[in-house]
Amino acid sequence: MKEELHAILKQAEEDLKRAQTFFDLNNLKSRFVGKKSVINQFMKRLGSLSPEERPAFGKQINDVKTKIESIIKATEERINSKLYEQSVKAASFDYTMPARPSEIGSLHPISIIQHQIEDVMISMGFQVAEGFDVEDEFHNFDALNTPKDHPARNLADTFFIEKDVLLRTQTSTVQIRVMENYKPPLKIISPGRCYRNDKFDQTHSPVFHQLEALVVDENISFKDLKETLNHFAVRMFGTSCKTRFRPHFFPFTEPSAEMDVSCFNCGGKGCSTCKNSGWIEIAGAGMVDPNVFDAIGIDSEKYTGFAFGCGIDRITMQKFCIPDIRFLFENDLRFLRQFNNFSDYNINR
Ligand code: DAH
Repeated sequence: MKEELHAILKQAEEDLKRAQTFFDLNNLKSRFVGKKSVINQFMKRLGSLSPEERPAFGKQINDVKTKIESIIKATEERINSKLYEQSVKAASFDYTMPARPSEIGSLHPISIIQHQIEDVMISMGFQVAEGFDVEDEFHNFDALNTPKDHPARNLADTFFIEKDVLLRTQTSTVQIRVMENYKPPLKIISPGRCYRNDKFDQTHSPVFHQLEALVVDENISFKDLKETLNHFAVRMFGTSCKTRFRPHFFPFTEPSAEMDVSCFNCGGKGCSTCKNSGWIEIAGAGMVDPNVFDAIGIDSEKYTGFAFGCGIDRITMQKFCIPDIRFLFENDLRFLRQFNNFSDYNINR
């Protein structure tokens, strides 16, 4: 009986130590010292003992009961003070305090400039067309009059996913997608990501952004191309911006040209931004090569067209004086937060 009593005391000590709430405590109370408790069973067993044995065992039972009761009391105090602490903590929370402002993201500088270019072009009657980042050789090269042995088609320049599946190297692919699906007259722009197998350096990134423009109609001439690009340059870079066209070669335009704008850093005098030339190249352009029309079944006798493509990252860097293209792709918040104040609506609208 003595050992049994000892075991009960031990058990009560352990269980009460674990009690966290008054619910736990009440359960343990009735289990150890209540009416139907184990201790009461012992009391009942006293009757079966001889009158000599009774007082000693009665005392032992009472001792254990008293000990358990004092542990119960201590446990009650412990739970009470824990609840008190919790309520003090809850009361010290000021529900009337204004909420911490949540940080709202802002436009990436590339998006700011892209939207600005789109605005300028839409105001001239262009519609925005979307293409695919993943393309096939027909849309990226063949239909754009780029011969099979052209160096751009090789693995060192183009990311191939598998045979005939690649990441587009230029937004000119969208010219083909649009001409396949719609009949002239066409007047579209298409901004988007392009990919080339270039290593990151100050002016190169394997992912970059272009904006393509295409106009197809009867009687479209080189003059329309020049006027459109001149207007685009003035709207983007201000009325003092001068432009010049240099002959160039692109497989999908004939004749082809590159357009430079007078350096907006030095105004054309020469500085490090324009490498002392006074000019900055911003677009490739030209009259759509009749071979391109033939590849997709547009009547090249009836229709002519012009196209141009400009690098959005390059224009973004120039406009915001960003010295290294990598800033545009690293997503460093210290850099991006500097553009918090530029919404779509506050630049050159
Ligand atoms: N796709 C050319 C490039 O990535 C840029 C370009 C040049 C686009 C002439 C055109 C164009 O539409 O007519 O270098």
